[in-house]
Amino acid sequence: MNAPVLAVRNLTKLFADAARPDAMPVGVRGVSLEVARGEVVGLIGESGCGKTTLGRCIARLLDPDSGEVLVRDVPFSALKGHSLRNFRKNVQVVFQKPETCLNPRMTVAVFVREALRNFGIVANNAEARKRLVELASLVGLREAALEQYPHQLSGGERQRVAIMRALACEPELIVLDEPTSALDVSVQAQVLRTLKDLQTVVGTSFLFISHDVAVIRYMCARVLVMYLGVVVEEGPVEAVFGRPAHPYTRALLAAAPRIKPRAVDPIALRGELMLGDVRLDECPVRVRCPLAHARCVEAPPEFDLGDGHRSACWLSADTASRSVSPTAMKAAS
Ligand SMILES: Nc1ncnc2c1ncn2[C@@H]1O[C@H](COP(=O)(O)OP(=O)(O)OP(=O)(O)O)[C@@H](O)[C@H]1O
Ligand SMILES: [Mg+2]
Repeated sequence: MNAPVLAVRNLTKLFADAARPDAMPVGVRGVSLEVARGEVVGLIGESGCGKTTLGRCIARLLDPDSGEVLVRDVPFSALKGHSLRNFRKNVQVVFQKPETCLNPRMTVAVFVREALRNFGIVANNAEARKRLVELASLVGLREAALEQYPHQLSGGERQRVAIMRALACEPELIVLDEPTSALDVSVQAQVLRTLKDLQTVVGTSFLFISHDVAVIRYMCARVLVMYLGVVVEEGPVEAVFGRPAHPYTRALLAAAPRIKPRAVDPIALRGELMLGDVRLDECPVRVRCPLAHARCVEAPPEFDLGDGHRSACWLSADTASRSVSPTAMKAAS
């Protein structure tokens, strides 16, 4: 069987608050995931739950405290020299705000050509020009934009350039961190459509980070739901969003606007997240969960609900065929 393009094993990256050394550190706790060739995996959760931190650790823009990131079965820690450079080429990131990665002093053509030449994807300027025109067409950018500077482009066009730059490297995986949430709704829809088409044509794997249920539903085949740095539910999108097993997922879905009636009774979490109330040895959602019961003072394992659908909630204990692993929280504490 082909190795997954990306495998993340028990990755932890925590940030302590220097002003409050006793407070619980925030970040990512013992997350594991896999992305297969050509697969689009979504990562969803409320603001501050660690989505960007995980994406940055995967692209090695941040060093994890522990755990491993493997691309095609090769662990990052084993990479040096040429293979490290190859990793950089193979794992690209598109951020929420394209301005943060575009160079204001370079035209689009010069900026993208740099990536093409740096990674030896083209041999000369003539080949680069041909590839630039192909890439512009792939991401739906008008050819004239190639000669323009970032400030001369619209927000949607700038994001298309960022996607074009990522694609130019011919990566195995693109981490898309809220790539459309800074765009207005109609432009968002166009860019999402482009990404979906691209994914079908080019077959690159995506890790798609978003806090928008509708966007994840449209883009992804599989989804991981995060709460406070831990994956609480994962599985095929139709299972996780159609038959959510974890109260946090149910609350997340209930908070998303919908036209059609919901198949699952909506629930809401109590109050706001107060880090001081959360304990690492219990379920992280317990203090806010309306369905919490006595058992939740013990951190739940992940329960296997079949077809890759898993939920880290004691409520799944009766329906699950087996428990899969100790909780990520326990593993990381
Ligand atoms: N470099 C850093 N130093 C200290 N704390 C950090 C750092 N980066 C992130 N954090 C903290 O880690 C937590 C997770 O942040 P992260 O940006 O990963 O969340 P997120 O899920 O991407 O949120 P959003 O949906 O708002 O983008 C937050 O509480 C954030 O303040
Ligand atoms: Mg983020």
